[in-house]
Amino acid sequence: MDIQLWHEILEPYELAVQELVVKFRYLIKEHHEKSLYSPIENVSGRVKTVASILEKMQRKHISVDELEEQVEDIAGIRLICQFVEDIEKVSELIKKRSDIEIKGEKDYIKNMKDSGYRSLHLIIYYTVETLNGPKKLQVEIQIRTMAMDFWATIEHSLQYKYKSNIPQHIKERLSNAADAIIALDNEMSTVRSEIMDAQISSQIQIKLVTDILNSIENLYKMSNKREVAKIQDEFYRIYALNDLQQLKRFHTQLDIIAEGYRAQAVTREF
Ligand code: GTP
Ligand code: MG
Repeated sequence: MDIQLWHEILEPYELAVQELVVKFRYLIKEHHEKSLYSPIENVSGRVKTVASILEKMQRKHISVDELEEQVEDIAGIRLICQFVEDIEKVSELIKKRSDIEIKGEKDYIKNMKDSGYRSLHLIIYYTVETLNGPKKLQVEIQIRTMAMDFWATIEHSLQYKYKSNIPQHIKERLSNAADAIIALDNEMSTVRSEIMDAQISSQIQIKLVTDILNSIENLYKMSNKREVAKIQDEFYRIYALNDLQQLKRFHTQLDIIAEGYRAQAVTREF
């Protein structure tokens, strides 16, 4: 039997995880740039350790030849959402993508595991380019809320400590905690639209302030310094009012002023 070169097997999965993390982070950025609410809050990824792969192969009687077919989570991506409703949105976004093919779906939210575990899992095919050409890999995407993630993280460390023999009294506590997580997610859902509005307003404000300060700096370069100082003072005054509408109006006025200066500059060039 050939010697197992784990490094060679795992390297393409490392690439897949890195690429997918970049792509999902870009999705968040696109939402923010369009001042849209992002259904994804956080992205992380990992390649399974050799130790963990060996443990799974032993537990599930998987041979080395079947490894890449049978172990679906050599590459794993975790997408954390704020609200339960976001999970379906994220799943739809993934299903629409041309670089991802869905192999299967496990809905542990509709069908909670006995342990109390909840998450939506998508098993996907994702192709990376290597020196030997394209390589189609399986990746497990776990989509869950922050609250579900909190529960799973705690429970996972207990599993690790007790090696799947978690004492009954702790199991009961975990089960109670899982119920509390469901209640928490439901409670947060009832204020979802208010929270989304607040977050979008905050994003719009951040973008406006950045744009305004950029405009002021540009004006400073091409016009009367004292006038620009006055504009800046006016900005500080309006900023202190804490009123998004006034800030928007100021931004528009600033655009008009900047346009005027640009027109003058062009005329001067001629
Ligand atoms: P694993 O061998 O655990 O990977 O299970 P599987 O390949 O049969 O698939 P399954 O859908 O049961 O689980 C896939 C992954 O979901 C696991 O690797 C964990 O990350 C997570 N998971 C599943 N069940 C639980 C659970 O009870 N508790 C926690 N914390 N995570 C779980
Ligand atoms: Mg797993």
